Amino acid sequence: MIKKGLSRLLGALLVIDGILLLIFGRKYVRRWRAGVAESLYYRVMDWLTNRPSWILRVAGAIETGLGLSVLRKAPVEVRSLYHVASRFYDTATPIWRDWLFRDAYAAFDKALSTYVRPGASVLDLGCGTGANLEQLINLGLPFGLYTGVDLSEEMLAVANKKFGHVPNTRCYQLDLMTDPLPEGNFDLIVSTWVFEHIPDPLKVVNKAWKQLKPGGHIILLFEARSKSWQSRVVDWVWGFFSARLTRKDEYDRFPGIMSTDIFPTAGAPAVLITLQKPETTT
Ligand SMILES: C[S@@+](CC[C@H](N)C(=O)[O-])C[C@H]1O[C@@H](n2cnc3c(N)ncnc32)[C@H](O)[C@@H]1O
Repeated sequence: MIKKGLSRLLGALLVIDGILLLIFGRKYVRRWRAGVAESLYYRVMDWLTNRPSWILRVAGAIETGLGLSVLRKAPVEVRSLYHVASRFYDTATPIWRDWLFRDAYAAFDKALSTYVRPGASVLDLGCGTGANLEQLINLGLPFGLYTGVDLSEEMLAVANKKFGHVPNTRCYQLDLMTDPLPEGNFDLIVSTWVFEHIPDPLKVVNKAWKQLKPGGHIILLFEARSKSWQSRVVDWVWGFFSARLTRKDEYDRFPGIMSTDIFPTAGAPAVLITLQKPETTT
């Protein structure tokens, strides 16, 4: 923990120093040239000040890159990320619901309307602040029981504050990777924007599959890797937040795939996958 904290501090200092050097070149180094003229520190800074500005800027770019790679080796942990994000998550939701992934959400809502039958028991993997429960309610879908699970206590606290009063709903904490999923014979299992944080999505899908009723469905919405440079950039940036894009060869191995829809965006494409468990397993 302390080692990670120190790495983050070092990475952040390198990035800040590198960016300033990249932008201001010699002017920035000059600011550091202080103290006794004969001291080693002064002489080094004096020597640097006399280098051509472009060399200093290249050094700034290299230092920034070095800082970023140090930061990537000590990414923000999922719990810490959502501890902070829980405070503004709901305010920011329209950015991806109404703008970035509007088409993907329209298809997701359609799938919900198709597969939530009267009295259906629904399990939401990585429910966060309860966005999918809110959608079930807003769409007026006749679910019977909703169970939401999430790693982050702070995200769950927001969900419970908003929906704790709704009958037949329960939200609780667990780690999808390491904990058993709730037993339930669920009619529908959903998960939105969670697989980005899951090192082994197939493992989680296989666990969910076991809790699904014969004839039941799983609807998954997540960002996937594509060949575009934008998707590579997103994948790289997500690396700072213990997240990554799911690869096609990973999601193609999910059991019972009924449909896979890909929605291109300005960044990484969103993938909506629907799985169906056969009525009878022979
Ligand atoms: C981007 S949010 C999505 C929340 C919600 N599904 C939505 O659509 O708004 C990702 C959620 O996944 C949860 N999460 C990440 N890794 C998890 C894990 N291993 N087990 C359970 N939940 C996890 C996070 O705590 C966070 O609430």
